[in-house]
Amino acid sequence: MNSHWILLFCCWLAKVNGNMFQDQLGTFSEIFHFLTDQIWDSEFELADFIKKGANPLDAWSFSSLQDSTRNWYCSVHGCCESTDCRLINNITGLDHDLGTKLHGQHLAKEVVVKAVKGFLATPQPQKALALSFHGWSGTGKKFVARMIADNLYRDGLRSECVHLYIAPFHFPYADLVDKYKALLLQRILAAVQHCDRSLFIFDEAEKLHQGLIDAIKPYIDHYDNVDGVDFRKSMFIFLSNVGGHSISRMTLDFWRAGRNREEITMEDLEHRIQREATTSEGGFTQSVLVAENLIDFFIPFLPLEYKHVKLCARDALRSRGINYKVDILDEVARGMSYVPKSEKLFSAQGCKSVSQRVNFFLP
Ligand SMILES: *[C@@H]1O[C@H](CO)[C@@H](O)[C@H](O)[C@H]1NC(C)=O
Repeated sequence: MNSHWILLFCCWLAKVNGNMFQDQLGTFSEIFHFLTDQIWDSEFELADFIKKGANPLDAWSFSSLQDSTRNWYCSVHGCCESTDCRLINNITGLDHDLGTKLHGQHLAKEVVVKAVKGFLATPQPQKALALSFHGWSGTGKKFVARMIADNLYRDGLRSECVHLYIAPFHFPYADLVDKYKALLLQRILAAVQHCDRSLFIFDEAEKLHQGLIDAIKPYIDHYDNVDGVDFRKSMFIFLSNVGGHSISRMTLDFWRAGRNREEITMEDLEHRIQREATTSEGGFTQSVLVAENLIDFFIPFLPLEYKHVKLCARDALRSRGINYKVDILDEVARGMSYVPKSEKLFSAQGCKSVSQRVNFFLP
């Protein structure tokens, strides 16, 4: 065989490997996409789906192929190393999405845009941006994380710059924590070398094992570089239900006092969340990230009310182009369960699965 054929063969092999890698990598984000495309977040469905099907260690197995296949891939498709066409940084779009698609979260809406906008406008940030989203499930944490990915990266969650870790799925076994640490460090290092404006999302962060997240502290801290790599342009987002209790308590207090929930301020909540975070159990809350104030913003997601559930139902129907009668929105909202027992004010599941529920009410 002459060298020409060998070269062709290598290209073919690289392509096959590359596709396998992409498939593997695609699995999670696609499932995530599929479920969250339907308007609101679907944390449980996602976790169940993944837990059933996949072997967690597979999630890691193709990482070593990344570099070689990437070089080949870029030589063919162009990876825009200089101008970085992987980034779109559409703050207007983010602002618009938060303003129109997210309901009942005035604080998240305001703080997320400000934080992200300010961070992206800084050419040389002092440290990586670390945001922590707090609240009950179904309040929109994952929904907002996805909006950020969609508006900052051309390929959204599928982007090679965006990395999603679901704590109980990627890191299931407590006794493998040292192994996970090494893998996580290696993955994040490789990711940032590859794309300095990387976004890392840690879902169900309350389930991270003790000590795991401490390993990435140097990447979030104020260092010029760690092992020759500058991490300060990357973003970390942690999603958890920690602090959900304080948030609901305060929202309920406002309601009982006859005050508007939009009057709740960051000052009212941020310290409470922080306090609840530092006193509760778990690998995220007990991490040095929280203890050493490396989280830039603790962002509360308030529990949702009947009227918000109706808006979610409306969005779900609109996005499918369905003509609906307004009664249906009430029917969907009535189908959810509400807490606390006395007031029945907040939807226990937030807007979760509302987009699936509307199906039952369609003629
Ligand atoms: C940013 O998002 C807005 C709203 O979604 C959209 O109209 C606009 O075309 C986007 N701009 C870019 C540069 O992608």
